[in-house]
Order: sequence, then structure tokens, then C-alpha cells
Amino acid sequence: MTAAPATPALPTTRPAGCPFDPPATYAALRETAPTSKVRCPAGMDAWLVTRYADVRAVLADRTMSSRGASSVHANPNADLDFEVSPGSIIQLDGADHSRLRKKVIPEFTVRRVEALRGYVRSLVDSHLDAMLAGPGRADLVQEFALPIPSLVICELLGVPYADRAHFQRQSATLVSTDATREEGEQAYDSLSGYLAELFVAKQRNPQDDLFSRLSVAGLTMEELVVLGLSLLVAGHETTANMIALSTLVLLEHPGQREVVLASPERAVEELLRYLSVVQWGVLRQATSDVQVGSHRVRAGEWLVAALNSANRDEEVFPGADKLDFDRESPRTHVAFGFGAHQCVGQQLARVELQEALTGLFRRVPELRLGVGREELEFKHNTLVYGVRELPVAWG
Ligand code: HEM
Repeated sequence: MTAAPATPALPTTRPAGCPFDPPATYAALRETAPTSKVRCPAGMDAWLVTRYADVRAVLADRTMSSRGASSVHANPNADLDFEVSPGSIIQLDGADHSRLRKKVIPEFTVRRVEALRGYVRSLVDSHLDAMLAGPGRADLVQEFALPIPSLVICELLGVPYADRAHFQRQSATLVSTDATREEGEQAYDSLSGYLAELFVAKQRNPQDDLFSRLSVAGLTMEELVVLGLSLLVAGHETTANMIALSTLVLLEHPGQREVVLASPERAVEELLRYLSVVQWGVLRQATSDVQVGSHRVRAGEWLVAALNSANRDEEVFPGADKLDFDRESPRTHVAFGFGAHQCVGQQLARVELQEALTGLFRRVPELRLGVGREELEFKHNTLVYGVRELPVAWG
């Protein structure tokens, strides 16, 4: 008797020398086995869904539960029997999810976010002033990419920016895939305690900010804290990584900077597609039997919707591995997910990226990488892909 072949591991290794490309295995899987069983780092088997059409179908399917979202499967220390907290917007389903989402979505409309554009621009300018006053070299992550989204989300939520060292450190642990369970719990408890105190203060003395409005919106303290934590972490980690990684891409494609300056909206969409920083995809669990591509997925089984693979699907994006600012319909990508849980903060992220990249390349046209590319350290072990430091130079 021959043993059944072992389930292959979820592909994670990016092709050598191509830090912006997803694992090469995805291209082959899209061709030959677009929905296939893999073993995830968290220990469970899941259907890996790699084609654009199937990824969208899975994410649009209301029978799919988000209880493991966004990427519980990526963490070898994950507890798969966890209970979803009532404030965890990203993991709730159905009416529980809609109830929370309705409380925050009006704060992130195009109109509300556009009203913040001037503020974002002023932050970009003041950070560039400070950077340019320095010695002609800087770590773009610490001096530009991280502070801008952190300041914006603090302003919007009503979180004191002076506390950034604390929440940035805890957030980094929460999105790390190799933090131990204890480290994860400690970071969670520490950030939750901080937010609980903040919400109590807001209830006593409300200001004109989102946390003040939420604090009197009929949510329990647990809901407030967990929702607040999701907004604070998602609100700065993702965009910070996108700003730094996009800068690196543009340093390597100097001819494309003109397009960024001339058509920032179009360029940012293509960068979102090309980089797909939510690098482990998003996890779902089937609650009833369902057909995905040519496979029957059974109730209870897990699925990984590989956003980075969908965004490189040649059926939808011809020449998908190429950064191409002339694509038709640049917004078709799924970098912000799709369906009921599609990113709440996407308009905000767009405005921040547009302002950061145009400000940077307009004011520092001679910007260059300050070290050899081989010296850069990429974040392979975090839920959101990025670069740890980005030494740049000018002048
Ligand atoms: C470039 C930046 C960003 C990227 C690539 C990104 C990506 C995503 C993705 C893929 C999802 C869907 C997760 C799923 O379906 O399981 C999501 C959801 C979410 N994002 Fe973002 N995001 C970004 C910026 C932001 C910002 C600035 C905020 C601000 C608060 C934010 C808040 C959220 C929230 C609250 C959810 C959960 C929505 C729900 O479950 O209904 N994100 N994001």
C-alpha cells in the first residue's frame, strides 16, 4: 500500500531577487490546480484559492464565515478554537458584522476622507521639511512612511500621538506571524487596557473624533476596545508598509515617477495591485457545502483567498507581473479585499498614498536608495508585507 501524498505547505517563498512578486508557485497553481489543499502554518489544512474569479466569488459568498480573518492561518502559534470577540469587525458575520460596520463606515466615506486631504498634505510637507533639513540621508520608514499614517489615524480616532511608541510596538507584535502566543496575548492585553482607559476618558469628556462618537454609540466596553484596536492597528500598519514599499518600487522604476506625479490616482491603484501587501491572503470558513471552481468545499473547511495571486491573474491583468500604470480599469484589483468585509479605510489609504508619493517625488526628485538593494530586509514574517528600514539619500 502506498501512503497518500502529504498535503503541500502553503507557498510562502518569494522568487529569489524579486521581492515584489508573490511565491512563484501561484502562477502554476492558477493554471493547473486553482483550488487546492494546502497545510497552513497554523496547522490546519485549507483550500488555497488562487484565481481572481474564484477569490472574488469566495469573498462575496455570505455563507463563508470570516471568523478566522484576516490571516489566523499564517501564525504557527494560533489558537484555532478561539472565540470571536463581539467587537472584532473583521471576524464577525451577518447581522453582528453589519451592526458594527454601520457605525464606522460613515466616517470613511470619500467626502469625509477628501476633507482630510489638506491635513495629510500638510503632514507630508512638514515631514519632508524635517527630513530635508537633515544630513542628506534618512530611514524613510521611521521618518516618513510610519509617522504619516500614524498621525492621520490618531487625529481621526482621537488617540494621543504622544502614545505612538506604545501602540506602534504592540501593533507590530500583533501583525507578526512569529510572535509567541504569550507575546501576542501580552500585546493584545496591553493595547486593550490602553484603549479602555481612553474610551472611559472620551465618555467623560467627548471631543470631535471617531472614538468619542463611538463611545456613546451604544456599544459595550469590550466591543469598543476591540473595534478601536482593529481601527488603530489596520489604520497605520498597512498604509505605512505600502508607502515604503511603493517608494522602493519607484526608486527601481525611475521612469514611472512622472506618471505618479501626473496621475496619482491611477498609479496608486496599480501599486496596490502589484504589491498586494496583505501577503497571506484572507481566511474564510465554509458554513455549508459550496462549489469553488471545480471543487466541492465541505461545511467546516477553511479557505485561503490569495489576494496576491488574484491580483497577478493574467486572465484579468494581462502582463500581470509588470508594473503598468496604463492598465484599463485600474481599480479592479482585490488588494482591499472584496464583498462584505472590503476594507473600511480604503479611501483614507488612497489619499495617504497619493499625497505621500507625489509629495516625496515632487520635492525630492533626486531621491535614491542609500544602500544596495541586497541589504534591505523584507517583512516575510508579518501579515502585512513591507520593508523594515528604507535607507534613502538625496543631494
Ligand atoms: C494600503 C492600505 C490597506 C490595505 C492594503 C488594506 C487591506 C484590507 C483588506 C484586504 C481587508 C479585508 C479583510 C478580509 O476580508 O478579511 C481590510 C479590511 C479592513 N480594513 Fe483595511 N487596508 C488598508 C488600510 C486600512 C486603513 C487605513 C484602515 C483604517 C481604519 C483600515 C481598516 C480596515 C478595517 C476596519 C477592516 C475590516 C472591515 C470589515 O471587516 O468589515 N484599513 N483591509
